[in-house]
Amino acid sequence: MNAERLEFIRRLPKAELHLHIEGTLEPELIFRLAQRNGVILPYPSIQALRDAYEFTDLQSFLDLYYAGAAVLMTEADFYDMTMAYLARIAQDGVVHTEIMFDPQTHTERGVPIATVFAGIARALREGYDTWGITSCLIMSFLRHLSEEAAFETLEQALPLREQYADLWLGIGLDSGEQGNPPEKFERVYARCRELGFYLVAHAGEEGPAAYVSSALNRLNVIRIDHGVRSEEDPELLKTLAARKIPLTVCPLSNLKLKVVNNMREHNLKRLLDQGLCVTINSDDPAYFGGYLLDNYIAVADAFALSDEDLITLATNSMQSRFPVFLDRRS
Ligand code: HPA
Ligand code: ZN
Repeated sequence: MNAERLEFIRRLPKAELHLHIEGTLEPELIFRLAQRNGVILPYPSIQALRDAYEFTDLQSFLDLYYAGAAVLMTEADFYDMTMAYLARIAQDGVVHTEIMFDPQTHTERGVPIATVFAGIARALREGYDTWGITSCLIMSFLRHLSEEAAFETLEQALPLREQYADLWLGIGLDSGEQGNPPEKFERVYARCRELGFYLVAHAGEEGPAAYVSSALNRLNVIRIDHGVRSEEDPELLKTLAARKIPLTVCPLSNLKLKVVNNMREHNLKRLLDQGLCVTINSDDPAYFGGYLLDNYIAVADAFALSDEDLITLATNSMQSRFPVFLDRRS
């Protein structure tokens, strides 16, 4: 790609809507935090850890992702991780980011949920002051755990809601999809809806199109994370297009986790051409080989996208932000 085109994409105002903050932990930072906290890593070097990032499917990635997140112990760790991500995306023309985090990954290890919120939030507020990047938080439940565990996490987090009212706006659902359908979380999502959170869920990454329908109809989500397997159900595609439900597609993630074998085989251009609200996102950039701009470049190259297509993708992302987020300037 020539420098002029790269600069065109970089300068497009872009929103990132599908990003797991624990997935931004670069091997260098994992090693630094492990040393700071006296955590022993099962890898002799940074390079050995990076070399282990060869995945066969979602679960093979999740095993490393949860192991990497185990170095996060203190407020400063969550702050450092989030600041490193913001500093990185500030160079990429990202103006807004909606960040998922998995409290259960940390509370299970004895880290208080207040520590998780405090470190991430301090960085997001500072990131706004430093780079003008607006942001919000999507607290996500781990779907391989029970709905009861999700309710417990919600109860632990709710006392913090007022303190983070400027940031904590959303609820998400992530981790191993197969065998953990959205409807497993129907009651806790109904509660979160009553509480006024915006709802999203991963569906149709490895799981079938039926999971996308279930996320829409039983969880009442306003966006679908991934959703690429929706294409298997033409009626569902019509509904997604008619209701303008955004899909937060993550091209490099799909390639690394072998949802597709080759970027040219990805269906995002077909979905776009069928009128779906496709957005481009990075998912877990430290593990999948690229941040948001790298994902745009990868699809622009693979599909020889026109400037118009790229503008559509970036505009979709800006229009698919949560409809109201409290502006810290006011
Ligand atoms: N899918 C499901 N769960 C996740 C992912 C993902 O891509 N990344 C982090 N948790
Ligand atoms: Zn994801």
